[in-house]
Amino acid sequence: MVAPSPTEFVQRQSTEVFDRLKAAGLLRCDGPTGVPLSYDLGNNDALAMSQCGAVISCGVDAARAWGAGSRSSRLLGSSHALHDRLSSATSPFLPDGWSSLLLGSGSSANQAFAEAFALLFPNAEVFLDHRCHASLHEAWRGQRKASSVLLFRHRSCHHLLEKLRHSTAEVKLIVVESLHSMDGDFECAETLAACCREVPGCMIFVDEAHTAGNYDSFLWCLSEENRSLLFPHIVGVMAGCGKAVGVSGGLLVVPAELKKACFQVARGLIYTTAPSPFVVAAVAKSCELLVGAEGKKRRAELEKMTEAFQMGLRNLLAAATSEWTFSFQAKSPVMWLRSRSGVRRTRQLAEELGRLGVNAPFIRAPTVPRGTERLRLSVSLHLDVSTVLQSFRSALAAVDQSLSSEKQEK
Ligand SMILES: Cc1ncc(COP(=O)(O)O)c(C=O)c1O
Repeated sequence: MVAPSPTEFVQRQSTEVFDRLKAAGLLRCDGPTGVPLSYDLGNNDALAMSQCGAVISCGVDAARAWGAGSRSSRLLGSSHALHDRLSSATSPFLPDGWSSLLLGSGSSANQAFAEAFALLFPNAEVFLDHRCHASLHEAWRGQRKASSVLLFRHRSCHHLLEKLRHSTAEVKLIVVESLHSMDGDFECAETLAACCREVPGCMIFVDEAHTAGNYDSFLWCLSEENRSLLFPHIVGVMAGCGKAVGVSGGLLVVPAELKKACFQVARGLIYTTAPSPFVVAAVAKSCELLVGAEGKKRRAELEKMTEAFQMGLRNLLAAATSEWTFSFQAKSPVMWLRSRSGVRRTRQLAEELGRLGVNAPFIRAPTVPRGTERLRLSVSLHLDVSTVLQSFRSALAAVDQSLSSEKQEK
């Protein structure tokens, strides 16, 4: 008998695994293709920087001058002049004595920070908002004893304080996201600052994947409203470059000593080929534009557009027969929506929108807690708000229609 080939083995094994996932409602599929940006509520390119001519040109010029790839890890001498240019582009928003360091992705920047911090503070305790991004859980819980990483309830000052007060560690690091990627809510700066004032030895690390570039100060934690509250306690920030910055990568913004520590231990820096010349130059240009007049103009437009979208959708939801619950926060381009009558109805709305050409991603457990599966909607300058709202009107009507048919059948 001929032994099955590796392909046959994979096919046999996967059928069973995928059937199991599908039966549990957990099977993930590749995203939709061919959705025009103007109908896409799934992309995080809030300020449309990915399409900015100046950013693209800078990247292309760098690729022509330096090559398509960076050829080696940064420590082996990859394109240092370009990284210097990126440092100059970030210097307008860097606090004194701080540096920036670009890694290949936001996830690997989060990992690098955790590794560098552990080198300097091996006995620190880490307090992680339990709803933080998977890359933060992985960065911290993957490398430390379970007892030194403690989870606190999302945005709960009370729960965080309770945990901090019990800690005997000299250094306590609080890890949060500025704007939560799935809930679309902002971390409360007052709460964080109050905890740090009350418990000695507290420091904060902020993942700014969804806010970097969305402020005149570039970062949420350095913005006019938050700087005086937060900056005295901040020890590091991860500024995502694949969202509002419009390119890719994760920019660590840290005191210079922590950058040096990254060079000693960060695997994503030491054992990985450096970001390509295109990426480094495009990120530098995008940062330059975002801290200047261009960024201001784009942010003002986004704010208007977000308001119009939220108001329009709120009205449509209020008029619908089926019941919806949603979170639309002021100034947050990330929002969510789900049916009160269950996952099936929420998924149905995503499908109806899909039929109308609108991508409104359905987010399922375990990315969000079971029972809170939702449509995650993210507004960007690409969006054609009135057409998308029109599609919502039709899709909601279709969901209502099927609800009333089901009621009649019963
Ligand atoms: C909050 C948060 N942190 C980190 C990341 C990881 O960033 P990257 O996609 O660049 O790895 C993401 C998203 O993708 C995110 O939403």
